[in-house]
Amino acid sequence: MADESELDLTRVICALEEIPEGGCRGFTAGGGDWPLRGLLTREDGVVQAFVNRCPHAGHPLNLRPHDFLTPDGALLVCRSHGALFEKSEGLCVAGPCAGRALTRVAIEVSAGYVLLAPGVDVERLADPAG
Ligand code: FES
Repeated sequence: MADESELDLTRVICALEEIPEGGCRGFTAGGGDWPLRGLLTREDGVVQAFVNRCPHAGHPLNLRPHDFLTPDGALLVCRSHGALFEKSEGLCVAGPCAGRALTRVAIEVSAGYVLLAPGVDVERLADPAG
């Protein structure tokens, strides 16, 4: 298991402890005017990452920072038109894009940090046409 000194800092998204159990956290990765906007979920200790782009009309899910959940915390919600997504697979379970899914971002957890997986093409994921 890697220790902190061995981490590839260019791939670090956040510390694992910054994502509450059952909760979500938004992030950006990459530079320029259009960095990748993503979100992290944590369920039963397992962290998943998705592009923060709704498959309905391509809007970001949230309006306020890190605000992705329904009031009961059970599902992700798109604030534009109300699409609901389950948190582990990013599958839309209700709303105008039911049956479609958020685009997954490959990540890994190491030494208490969440990192983009090696080789993740941030520019391609950030491109709405990609
Ligand atoms: S853009 Fe998300 S529900 Fe319409």
